[in-house]
Amino acid sequence: MNHLAEHLAAGFAQVPKTLSSKYFYDAAGSRLFQQIMGLPEYYPTRTELAIFRAQGAAIGRALAAGAAAGQPLDVVELGAGDGLKTKLLLRELLGQTLSIIYVPVDISASALEELVASLRQELPALPTAPLAAEYGAALTALAERPEAKAVLFLGSNIGNFAPAEQAEFLRALARPLTPADRLLVGFDLRKDPRRIRAAYDDAQGVTAEFNFNLLRRLNAEAGANFDLAQWQHFPDYDPSTGAMRSWLVSRRAQTVQVAALAGQTFEIAAWEAIQTESSYKFTLPQITELAATAGLRVVEVFQDEAGDFADVVLAVEG
Ligand code: AVI
Repeated sequence: MNHLAEHLAAGFAQVPKTLSSKYFYDAAGSRLFQQIMGLPEYYPTRTELAIFRAQGAAIGRALAAGAAAGQPLDVVELGAGDGLKTKLLLRELLGQTLSIIYVPVDISASALEELVASLRQELPALPTAPLAAEYGAALTALAERPEAKAVLFLGSNIGNFAPAEQAEFLRALARPLTPADRLLVGFDLRKDPRRIRAAYDDAQGVTAEFNFNLLRRLNAEAGANFDLAQWQHFPDYDPSTGAMRSWLVSRRAQTVQVAALAGQTFEIAAWEAIQTESSYKFTLPQITELAATAGLRVVEVFQDEAGDFADVVLAVEG
């Protein structure tokens, strides 16, 4: 039984049926996410980029503060993607510390290859040590490296975890760090609920395609027979909890068969919804509380003028 088929069997046994957003990111899904990041409705990427443009020097100083001058600094980025924003920070850091090694970590090997190729062109002096892995494996690898660390977890990737998992993940991230190391975490903040919802329901339908890509993958890799025309992308936002959720809603009663599960079938009712993604939105007090739960303190907060997004520098309690 393959991994994706196993995931489908476990997710469809839940109520509501659930699939994990981590499976969005095959080569096609990573390309769709790149497109999403440039959409007019999807504000997080350009807002974080604006924060780095305006305050990159200060963020760079905050990240390198713990590394003694001249000592190597590992800049580890979890979920690196195309590294567009990170390149700004790397330029700052290259100017501030003598020796940096960039360790981009991403689940998508193809996205990493493109990133490393573009870095060779744009920042040829920067040594890189890419890691195609899930976050768990990356954290283990991180613990084995003796260098001072600046760990980046940008783009509000943290919001894709359920609340209990957010603290657990930050705690795991904090474990290999010394009080001199720094973590930089991007958080999408609460704002007009309609703007948030629109960011996940763009007019061109790219986010819908991103969501459908999960079904395409299940068809291609688990031998499922999802008929994409029978599904609808449906995003909803709960302003009382900050939960932005994406669903795939079945337009009619249907039966799906999965070859990799020995032809097992799944019944789906008309208008039944499968949850595919959560993208939580945060308040600043919530971030401080979340950090404290994970044994971290807030060192500095960098925000855009409108207060749409926050990049928060964290350190483990000394
Ligand atoms: C990667 N992650 C932070 C994005 C988000 O906003 O949750 C993924 C995404 N899903 C739909 N649009 C973008």
